[in-house]
Amino acid sequence: MRNGSDDGVVISPPTPLNLQLAADALVRGELVCMPTETVYGIAADATNADAVRRIFAAKDRPADNPLIVHISDFVQLEDVVAEWTDAADVLANRFWPGPLTLVLKKSEMIPDEVTGGLDTVAVRMPDHEVALELIELAGVPLAAPSANRFMHLSPTRAEHLDPEIAKRVAMVLDGGPCRIGLESTVVDVTVSPPRILRPGGISRGDIQAALGGPLGQLPPEGIRRSPGMYQRHYAPDARLEFVEALDPDAVGIGFGTPRNDRQIRMPMDPHAYAAGLYAALHRLDAGRPDVIFVEHPPEEPEWEAVVDRLKKASES
Ligand code: TXA
Ligand code: MG
Repeated sequence: MRNGSDDGVVISPPTPLNLQLAADALVRGELVCMPTETVYGIAADATNADAVRRIFAAKDRPADNPLIVHISDFVQLEDVVAEWTDAADVLANRFWPGPLTLVLKKSEMIPDEVTGGLDTVAVRMPDHEVALELIELAGVPLAAPSANRFMHLSPTRAEHLDPEIAKRVAMVLDGGPCRIGLESTVVDVTVSPPRILRPGGISRGDIQAALGGPLGQLPPEGIRRSPGMYQRHYAPDARLEFVEALDPDAVGIGFGTPRNDRQIRMPMDPHAYAAGLYAALHRLDAGRPDVIFVEHPPEEPEWEAVVDRLKKASES
């Protein structure tokens, strides 16, 4: 083990021994921070209600905000969901492992603590070797929300972890920077046509293309169905404000050449932008500015997830 940052967060490389120790801790009902391709998660045995309650305590997350259950193979689905649908089959075969979460009727093995009392469960197969091995070694599906305090920025590197989170887990496994950098797309496949509850790592266009038809519209009560849709969310401590162009001495992220060392140039590609967004906000936020200014990305479909996170972070 090595000390991965100044504030005493102990970060462990994912050696076979550390993976086994982490899996043992999970089986005992303890928590582990694990990398995924989207963001780091704080994981617990999804079949153990006490362990799952510890996640909510560590994050300071309201108990009615349901968690995503992570699986490492299709057989494990039988433990998690009670009903599989045609749309789920198409999407899972096309995008798993990957940044897509499916909402389905939950099985009896998943306690109410995971789903916030809903009769549905969110499930995904992450595209990250460390996460997949950990789930397999633990032998149980893992409930894992993003490993940030409630309403704060998600970590996309082990170094981003809040010490308050890190001190409540048995181990932090380092998987390097997350490849996607934004959370998974959450799709409700209990309804026909399916609908997107949270935009994310897989675009609306790709999901529509896979299904071969349009997606359903979200009713207003969708705000309650998927609490990831809270107005303010995914936010740095600083206020976030959209601008046309960054002032020379402003703190912020934009597309042009930085004009001071607290400006970060972001790529004009939505995937590359997503991969670097949280790291950029973490870095600027560490300087404790009052405001982080953001040059508005294009309002185009492939930027939907990025714009969604920026808008949520800018809500006051
Ligand atoms: O990429 C990700 O999805 C990351 C990594 C760690 O897998 N996880 C993540 O979890 O973002 P979390 O807890 O931060 O977000 C879970 C989202 C929330 O928007 C929640 O409302 C939604 O999934 N969700 C979970 N269960 C649901 C359900 N039964 N019905 C509707 N939405 C659900
Ligand atoms: Mg989250």
